[in-house]
Amino acid sequence: MTKPFSRRTFLVAAGAAATGVALSACSERTPGQAVGPLAAAVGEREDRRRRPGAAVREVALVAAPATVDLGGRTASTWVYGGALPGPLLRLRAGEVLRARLDNRLPVPTSIHWHGIALRNDMDGVPGVTQEPVAPGASFTYEFTVPDPGTYFFHAHVGVQLDRGLYGTLLVDDPAEPGRYDRELVIVLDDWTDGVGRSPDQVLEDLQRRGMAGMGGMGNMEGMQGGMGGMGDARNPLGGDPGDVRYPLYLVNGRPPGSPRSLGARPRERVRLRIVNAGADTAFRVALAGHRLTVTHTDGFPVRPVTGDALLVGMGERYDALVDLGDGAFPLVALAEGKDARATAVVRTGRGPTPRLDTRPPELDGRLLTAAGLRPAAGVDLGSRDPARTHRLVLAGDMQQYRWTINGRTFDRAVPLEVRDGERVRLVFENRSMMFHPMHLHGHTFQVRDGHRPGPRKDTVVVRPMRRVTVDLETANPGQWMIHCHNAYHQQAGMMTTLSYVR
Ligand code: C2O
Ligand code: CU
Repeated sequence: MTKPFSRRTFLVAAGAAATGVALSACSERTPGQAVGPLAAAVGEREDRRRRPGAAVREVALVAAPATVDLGGRTASTWVYGGALPGPLLRLRAGEVLRARLDNRLPVPTSIHWHGIALRNDMDGVPGVTQEPVAPGASFTYEFTVPDPGTYFFHAHVGVQLDRGLYGTLLVDDPAEPGRYDRELVIVLDDWTDGVGRSPDQVLEDLQRRGMAGMGGMGNMEGMQGGMGGMGDARNPLGGDPGDVRYPLYLVNGRPPGSPRSLGARPRERVRLRIVNAGADTAFRVALAGHRLTVTHTDGFPVRPVTGDALLVGMGERYDALVDLGDGAFPLVALAEGKDARATAVVRTGRGPTPRLDTRPPELDGRLLTAAGLRPAAGVDLGSRDPARTHRLVLAGDMQQYRWTINGRTFDRAVPLEVRDGERVRLVFENRSMMFHPMHLHGHTFQVRDGHRPGPRKDTVVVRPMRRVTVDLETANPGQWMIHCHNAYHQQAGMMTTLSYVR
């Protein structure tokens, strides 16, 4: 078993990565004392979340090398439980997840429970909330899952997310009427491990060649793209869609050559639960011959909106209702801006498998993004003046492969301090020509749309040269990562800490 995370280790980590603690003695202003993962407040908050008699769901997750079948083609990679995608975990809101991670990888690892408002010491960030889980060691995560919705979990060390180390986590709402007949979970991914370079090699190449070498799609090209560089109807994410060209794009672990068949009955109403587990790719999703009605994003309900296609950034989740016809229909997930796709087949009848290389017109119809969504009545935080506002300037270094928040990479980041029980505003200002899906651990913020309320989310796409403002209520003490969910940007520095202080 892994030793419990020691206070000393936390202070060392906080001193190295988040200077607030270490410098408090000598700085002019007196920053508060950081509320670490072992603080009493963390356990107290968990006690309040935990209902007496709450069911405990136990799972074992073995992280290990495996050879996975990508449909006729095999790849050796790292996964949970020997399969791709990893296991689907399902529990009810208010229950306790007890998940034992066994690390059979040759390197340290950890699991982050993306989107869950959990206790800080179970958040899975090595060096901040726990010690890394060494090869051969295990660690048991145990926490209450307070909010229903579509979530996922993934490794949080280096660029391990870009291997197969992820799975879906669904939290059911005991009070939800469930006005649909069936669910289909759609997990999207960009894939290189075992068929192309390993993610570590990809990162090394990016760092060696700097921004100029990003697969011919560097910042300069985006800049010359005029409006296209900043996002328009054809290129909603701008002219520079990513740093990595992948050999394959997957739906539920399969490339277009051998798609999964997702079975349903004609005229059923189906709830799609869409997760983008990709590292460097946004997907534009459509189901040929159908419209999609978005009902939730990042687990939280929105006022339903119907469109033809849906844009999903890395780390985002969307739930959508579809009224199925009779037949077999391509589900197409375009790798946005990368001229490639992932596909599956939704089948309700016997008919022949449809062609998967055509472009369903829905992809060019009404495109839904988080931008137009409104929160459902019960989850609107309401407007209140923030007690404090933190600005996060997102930028890239043109010479080296370095991505920064407020001019700093994570190793030199200045933590963004908050106190418990505050209304806090975060202003993301993108000063680069690439989009960044910005993710906050342990909280769900509310996107502001001018003066109108936007959706509750934990991951929000900030388009090139644009600004996005979000508000949150601090109610979950601890040290929480804020980072770009592009795994390469995160690893190249685009991460900081939302630091509760007392
Ligand atoms: Cu899903 Cu820190 O990320
Ligand atoms: Cu980014």
